[in-house]
Amino acid sequence: MKTKLVSSAVADIQSECLVAIVLDHNTDKSKDAKPDAKIASADFGFTEALADVIASGDVTGKSLETVLLHGPKGLKSKRLLLIGGGKAAKFSADDIRKIAGTAVRYAKTKNLKSLAIAVPDSTVSAADAARAIVEGAFVGDFDPNYYASDRKDQRIDELTVISAANADKKSLDAAIVTGAIIGASQNFTRDLVNEPGNKMTPTILGQRAKKMSDEVGLKCEVFSTDKLHELKMGSFWSVSQGSPEPPALIVMRYEPAGAKKDGPVLGLVGKGITFDTGGISIKPADGMEKMKYDMAGGAAMIGAMRAIALLKPNVKVIGIVCAAENMPSGTAQKPGDIQFAMNGKAIEIINTDAEGRLVLADGLCYARQLGCTHLVDAATLTGACVVALGYVNAGIFANDDDMYTRFNKAQQSAGEKFWRLPLDDEYREMIKSGIGDIVNSGGRWGGAVTAAKFLQEFVEDKPWIHLDIAGVAWMEENKPWIAKGPSGIAVRSLVEFVNGWQS
Ligand code: BES
Ligand code: MN
Ligand code: ZN
Repeated sequence: MKTKLVSSAVADIQSECLVAIVLDHNTDKSKDAKPDAKIASADFGFTEALADVIASGDVTGKSLETVLLHGPKGLKSKRLLLIGGGKAAKFSADDIRKIAGTAVRYAKTKNLKSLAIAVPDSTVSAADAARAIVEGAFVGDFDPNYYASDRKDQRIDELTVISAANADKKSLDAAIVTGAIIGASQNFTRDLVNEPGNKMTPTILGQRAKKMSDEVGLKCEVFSTDKLHELKMGSFWSVSQGSPEPPALIVMRYEPAGAKKDGPVLGLVGKGITFDTGGISIKPADGMEKMKYDMAGGAAMIGAMRAIALLKPNVKVIGIVCAAENMPSGTAQKPGDIQFAMNGKAIEIINTDAEGRLVLADGLCYARQLGCTHLVDAATLTGACVVALGYVNAGIFANDDDMYTRFNKAQQSAGEKFWRLPLDDEYREMIKSGIGDIVNSGGRWGGAVTAAKFLQEFVEDKPWIHLDIAGVAWMEENKPWIAKGPSGIAVRSLVEFVNGWQS
């Protein structure tokens, strides 16, 4: 999708489809309060041309309400799509993202190839709005039916952002470029997550990361079994041992010249299980096909590294993805086995289906060995997190309040939702081992927390946050602004988080 900025009278725009946002300005909360819809535009001529339509009462400004007009009077565009943004007082950049995504998905059902969206006049700054329009439009432009024989792969080729004539063109242009980088990187992640296990093995994931890295100028190395043995990553390797597909340890480095010599080094560590059968502790057949998305945490790190390489913040970042396929076989690990992680801790395997923490344990140790001073991991780690928070919020755990505060700020501006869960010492008791140091499963109760406590053992004293994205990495249904399928969750927040560390 190409993006461009034009600053001119909205009525003069010649587009296949012009999109404008309508807000409800009524602040009356009573039951029979009538909406007070207004086009959110500072362009007087444009709002005047639409006065009749608004007065008709057909347009209420209700959130994501869509009204399509053909050959609108007084406008040069072929169609006008009005989309509701809800109450004006609560309107945010995230509403704009969803509106842009909705506009794109709507336009695609009409086989349109281009659209023009007017920056709304609201409490959101023009630059933030322009960026949100582009991010949201990219998100709406993704369809997951890759292998359907009748796939149209219909895309929006061109998106025009219309700004007021007196707008600061330079800042809007920059905002649009940023939005396109982030939107395309989120879709890069979704593309990786969408692929089924037979098309996305650890080796293929490594190749995709390498190719992307070469394109954007990141250093990238991909290692396999020998390196795992050399680094004494017994925990990571144990997950891969049951599969003929070799594991991949993907290391991407972003080391900008402008970064402070002894400044922070952020480590982004992702779970990359390209298929999770559960191993010998095999999962039930029902729904197992979904376990192709068990590499979504790793894919989020790869997408975030892509955006970081292109946005060039002056802070060092190392991305590490631990990719393996978790299979049952004659060579697979067994419940009761003992595995030694890179830091020497002895792990008693209780359940081979708690494999994500095993690969991450070594990934976190390795990030420290490479010099990372602050750690973030992302993983589709536990069903228990889905039980706790459903499909709405991802879980976030932090051993450091500053890290949490930074990430919380980032997620709010990125329009993603993470809810903090605890890491009290008492939970550590639940993962004591009688034969070794730690068991890999604390059982059903508090399962998301005991998984996080397990990871904490490998972080040691480093400030760290853990993102459990099991419930939100895959959209269970179509929404007006995003297709059912891989969501690309965490990419936007991670990029925002990293940007916040610039010196
Ligand atoms: N990949 C799963 C977690 C998961 C569940 C992701 C649902 C996405 C949706 C993970 O490897 C797993 O199997 N976890 C077990 C842990 C248990 C055996 C301690 C779980 O959550 O049941
Ligand atoms: Mn599992
Ligand atoms: Zn898993």
